[in-house]
Amino acid sequence: PPSALVVLAAGSGRRVGAGTNKALLPLAGRPVLAWSLHRTAGATWCARTVVVARADELDEVAAVVAAADPRPGPVDVVAGGASRHASEAAALTVLADDVAAGRVQVVVVHDAARPLADAALFDAVVGAAARSGGAVPVVARHDLVPVEGPWDGGHPLALADVGSVQTPQAFAARPLLAAYTSAARDGFEGTDTAACVERYGGGGAVVAVPGSRRNLKVTFAGDLPVAAALLGG
Ligand code: CTP
Ligand code: MG
Repeated sequence: PPSALVVLAAGSGRRVGAGTNKALLPLAGRPVLAWSLHRTAGATWCARTVVVARADELDEVAAVVAAADPRPGPVDVVAGGASRHASEAAALTVLADDVAAGRVQVVVVHDAARPLADAALFDAVVGAAARSGGAVPVVARHDLVPVEGPWDGGHPLALADVGSVQTPQAFAARPLLAAYTSAARDGFEGTDTAACVERYGGGGAVVAVPGSRRNLKVTFAGDLPVAAALLGG
């Protein structure tokens, strides 16, 4: 289905500690953000792209987008907000008319901080979201153990249910926009898109698709050389 890609690059990258937004840091010859756009340059589902930037980095991000691979449709660079949720809400506002008119039926949300997500993963979440209402990549976490503590009422976690959720995440567009409208009314902010969609429902189930261990997120400084090695090899 005709879909929109939202790439979130409006953070500050504080934990990387480079003194600048990690989305703009160089990685294997191009900015992290350029890699995060690269794998969808040939996506037939991508009718348009919205890149969300910090208000004080709009020009810099627009320059990265202009120098990146040509996109399969128009690209907007818009100012984000103080949180990931707020940045996403800004992108959804831009898409509202296309969603209402049915020109955008699925919205794919991707963190610029994941430069290694490959085309197959994007295709998988778009396809699954078109069938179910929403899809998120999940990888099992075998390095976590059940811990008893006050945060879970003393009950061990069900280890089989523990996984890490990645981006790209894809959702049926109309329920997604409705969820963010409801969230704005309530002042609710989820940690990711799925959290908001699951809270407000209305769009069918959010299903898990197999994530990829290569699809690492650049969070700390040590993640950059790992990402560079994966991109080079
Ligand atoms: N993001 C955003 N707007 C915000 C905060 C985050 O668009 N106000 C984006 C980031 O650019 C990133 C993604 O959300 O691509 C995931 O967030 P995170 O990894 O936390 O990135 P930062 O917030 O930039 O990093 P940090 O938390 O270390 O400052
Ligand atoms: Mg953050």
